[in-house]
Amino acid sequence: MKPTATLYVCSDWKTSALVLPVLEKRFLVQNRITWEREKERGARRNWKNNTEDIWFCINSENYYFDVDAVKLKRKVLAPYRVNGDPKDWKREGDGNFRLTHPSNIWTDLTVPFWSMSENTPHPTQKPEKLFAKLILASSRKGDFVFDPFLGSGTSAVVAEKLCRRWCGIDINMEYLCWARKRISAVRWDSAIQGYKDGVFWERNSSPQQKGYPK
Ligand SMILES: C[S@@+](CC[C@H](N)C(=O)[O-])C[C@H]1O[C@@H](n2cnc3c(N)ncnc32)[C@H](O)[C@@H]1O
Repeated sequence: MKPTATLYVCSDWKTSALVLPVLEKRFLVQNRITWEREKERGARRNWKNNTEDIWFCINSENYYFDVDAVKLKRKVLAPYRVNGDPKDWKREGDGNFRLTHPSNIWTDLTVPFWSMSENTPHPTQKPEKLFAKLILASSRKGDFVFDPFLGSGTSAVVAEKLCRRWCGIDINMEYLCWARKRISAVRWDSAIQGYKDGVFWERNSSPQQKGYPK
């Protein structure tokens, strides 16, 4: 890895605690992002397991991070005014919206479900929107994205859509076939669900993204 590179490591709640000390031996760990999977089976004798962690690590203090590229557009429920003027929000269509700094809890994602074009039969496929956040925050156009656990190809698909170079590896040939099919479809459809006009939108906000009232 280059001294300027960033590493993101995904883990579930059980492995997360084990992964941290290993990462700390070699990298500067900056944060732990927790994202809500939304769609998960309920449990009878336990809390439904609905989150995953992503460790954000750097190689040196000379790293790239573009917070403006990953702002979240949120509906403002209590629009505050100063001298009658909106304070840091704007009226748009049927609502009031504010651009917010992304935190380390991501609740705007949806696991790709059957009706989404990005969906494949891969058992642990991640949403394109998740990789879009990581890639936009931590790389510039033309930079290199490497994913040694490519699966259905989500990281490569998003890297391609966002004009980054990429390389991916997976042990399973069938998954790589699905990845190849998705990557070749990018030339017809480079949209990323939930990312429009340079901002990330909240979950279930398609009507607002299209610009017409609910
Ligand atoms: C969590 S999945 C990745 C899912 C991917 N991010 C996506 O959105 O489809 C992890 C992947 O690692 C692959 N894998 C597991 N062990 C591997 C190994 N030793 N070398 C390469 N790939 C491996 C699995 O086949 C699986 O597809």
